[in-house]
Amino acid sequence: MAKILVTGGLGFIGSHTVVELQAVGFDVVIIDNCSNSSEDVLEGITKISGKTPAFEKLDLRDKSKVIDFFSRYQDIEGIIHFAASKAVGESVENPLLYYENNITTLVYILQELQKRDTSNFIFSSSCTVYGQADELPITEDAPVKPAESPYGNTKQIGEEIISETCKVTPSLNAIALRYFNPIGAHASANIGELPLGVPANLVPFITQTGIGLREQLAVYGNDYDTRDGTAIRDYIHVVDLAKAHVVALQRILEGKNKSNYEVFNVGTGTGSTVLEVINSFEKVSGDSLKYKIVGRREGDVVAAYADTHKANNELGWKAESTLDDAMESAWKWEKKVRNKN
Ligand code: UD1
Repeated sequence: MAKILVTGGLGFIGSHTVVELQAVGFDVVIIDNCSNSSEDVLEGITKISGKTPAFEKLDLRDKSKVIDFFSRYQDIEGIIHFAASKAVGESVENPLLYYENNITTLVYILQELQKRDTSNFIFSSSCTVYGQADELPITEDAPVKPAESPYGNTKQIGEEIISETCKVTPSLNAIALRYFNPIGAHASANIGELPLGVPANLVPFITQTGIGLREQLAVYGNDYDTRDGTAIRDYIHVVDLAKAHVVALQRILEGKNKSNYEVFNVGTGTGSTVLEVINSFEKVSGDSLKYKIVGRREGDVVAAYADTHKANNELGWKAESTLDDAMESAWKWEKKVRNKN
């Protein structure tokens, strides 16, 4: 079976994707610099799949190492590129770090792929490229709005770099997947999300509050024009998201893509408010969650959820898990991580 490179394969979405690739028989090589992950994740992957992927601890900002890697692995048939920094606040504080980590590394990889007779590339993009869309649900044709942060800008620029490179490189097939809000963990609780420090994202903050690590959740605003006043997002189970990568990769490996650069939304199509997510957590955990309403967070959009028709009909992929399923897996993982430590 084909050999696939997964950059950032020890991270949250990367590790779940490695497991799903292995499940359908792909041979996986991981590159990760462990800046926001740990080699222990390899153990969790192995527990699930029974197979330890090849692992190269490597920093993709080192061009000579990237060149050396691709010369040693001539047989790689597909690349899923997750490795990137993703904290919005940090990107505002240190934009150059984000342009170096997220843009330079992408350029180095694409330069190596351009040398090949054929190459297949899946890119981690984000619904953040839409900003506050004028129409909901959000289709892939919605305009890309000026980015709210350097992080968001790296996703927009990343998509442009790939699209422009594809135009002049017929041997390169690429798909950008625009993720909505990935949450949850593998049902086995052998892998999951491990945020560094205080989580900025809603669900890890909820589970850490539930376990007693944080005093209470601050809900950012209940005066939005939504059904309960809190903001709406499309929360997708990370295992469903991981499977979308496998399907996208198979599409280009089998030559089923309609052009050599395609874009798909990856979401459930259903929006949930912050209070609905809290309710779901309380339901699956059987505990009440401590929270207070505070002011809006700067840069937050009111509502974002995916139109999934293109992913459902063209890609042939559909999210299967419910919000409760995802919250249950996130809670199981949180309990396991804390008991272990
Ligand atoms: C955030 C980023 C987005 C990035 C994504 C990566 C911002 C403004 N956006 O998306 O660019 O692609 O993470 O995962 O940072 N919330 C609370 N209390 C909290 C945390 C969150 O009420 O402690 C609310 C937020 O206001 C939002 C929802 O929960 O309405 C989801 O927040 P979050 O998980 O941070 O995701 P996004 O803001 O959608």
